[in-house]
Amino acid sequence: MEFYLQQDASKLDEVSSVILPLVDATHSNDVLATDSLKNADTILNGAISNAIASGDLSGKFENSQLFLNSGPGPSRILVIGTGAPDKLSGRKYKKLVQTAWSKISANPGSSVLNLLTTADTTILDQHSKVRLSVEAIGQARYRFDQFKTTPKDKPPAPNMFLVAHADSQAQLKQSVATSKAMDLCRDLGNLPGNICTPSYLAEQGHKLAAASDKVITQVLEEAEMEALGMHSLLSVGKGSAEPSKLIVINYQGGEEGVQPHVLVGKGITFDSGGISIKPGAAMDEMKYDMCGAASVMGAMQAIINMDLKINVVAIVASAENMPSSTASKPGDIYTTMSGKTVEVLNTDAEGRLVLCDALTYAERFNPKTVVDVATLTGACIIALGHHTSAVMSNDDQFAASIMSAGKQAFDTAWQLPMGEEYQEQLDSNFADLGNIGGRSAGAITAACFLSRFAESFTWAHLDIAGTAWTSGTKKGSTGRCVPLLVQHIVNQA
Ligand code: BES
Ligand code: MN
Ligand code: ZN
Repeated sequence: MEFYLQQDASKLDEVSSVILPLVDATHSNDVLATDSLKNADTILNGAISNAIASGDLSGKFENSQLFLNSGPGPSRILVIGTGAPDKLSGRKYKKLVQTAWSKISANPGSSVLNLLTTADTTILDQHSKVRLSVEAIGQARYRFDQFKTTPKDKPPAPNMFLVAHADSQAQLKQSVATSKAMDLCRDLGNLPGNICTPSYLAEQGHKLAAASDKVITQVLEEAEMEALGMHSLLSVGKGSAEPSKLIVINYQGGEEGVQPHVLVGKGITFDSGGISIKPGAAMDEMKYDMCGAASVMGAMQAIINMDLKINVVAIVASAENMPSSTASKPGDIYTTMSGKTVEVLNTDAEGRLVLCDALTYAERFNPKTVVDVATLTGACIIALGHHTSAVMSNDDQFAASIMSAGKQAFDTAWQLPMGEEYQEQLDSNFADLGNIGGRSAGAITAACFLSRFAESFTWAHLDIAGTAWTSGTKKGSTGRCVPLLVQHIVNQA
């Protein structure tokens, strides 16, 4: 589906469908205040004003009516209430757009003029309304039915004209790229573990390189990782028949020699827990344990599509965590690529074991900044629930810039502390550090573990365990935190 900006709100006659916002009467004495509503009312021979007068239609949030027009002009006009301007937040705006889309999506025709971007809100600017419109419709249209023998019909894809000033063009471009990148992220997440293996992720890395001559993808095989001393990463895949991979996607959009920004993704394509095996309930959801990798790959796709003038390297650390007689065991000690030794006290704390070697590998790029993204801890879900990702960093200013990118992108993250007092929880009797820090502050001690391998650069860690997918009847990947990552890189460019 294509999105365009339309500066002229009066072009009702040139489209097949129109979406019009209706302000709440308690906030305006003339609800047909806009020319577009007056035009639409004329086209419909006063049907809108009649519906309002009879009380069938009001400007209350999401109150709506679809008017059919058999005369000249658009065949469908949806009028939808936008509620109080001081209540129309990003979250509610997104819901409004999705509700509007659901009312016309059965038969929108070939083009839609969408005026929701002109909705009265004291909370959102025009740029935000443009980007939220694109991403909300992207989310609503997303399907993952490739494994159904009878896939659902493809949703219609009309050209959508968002009424907004041309100065939102950059936001439009970014949100279109972000929305497509979220689709890729969601697809990779939703794919079952028997298809989306480390090798499959490596192929996706090569695909990104095939699409642009500014991208080089290199996949490190187990033998090469062995030679580099990545014994911690390799320990995680020891029990699996699937070979582990380190996927390095190098995008050179900036000048040669300019320090790149690095994105590191946790790509555990299935996390059974290994010998410290997980309970059976909802274990299928551990196919989502590569969502950090998926969001990093999605972000790379968006960065490539936007042709950003910046250097970015993505490093995906991918393995399958399985129990077997060759699997690593609690108590085993491995030497990481950094030289530090780790005692594996719980094989289910495997994310940090693959990420630590990926972080050490990142040093060779002399990075300006490094952000790693991981579905790292159940404890993060206890701390922040399913709405906000956690960010932890060795630089408070950098953490603040990540949070601000999240806020801009409506993909929020919140900082958790990472003081030295937490570091002590990782002490081991037999190695330099243990891979678990006890029950308390589990999201923080996981980040503390990673910080030991991020001492030579500005680094932030995003724990997306609570935000990367939803459970229950609406089970599925969310595409988070692609918007945050894209915004982060855009802000550096
Ligand atoms: N992938 C899990 C974290 C996770 C669990 C994410 C549930 C989302 C939902 C991770 O590898 C893990 O198992 N972490 C353990 C760490 C513990 C053993 C210190 C956890 O959170 O229980
Ligand atoms: Mn685990
Ligand atoms: Zn895991």
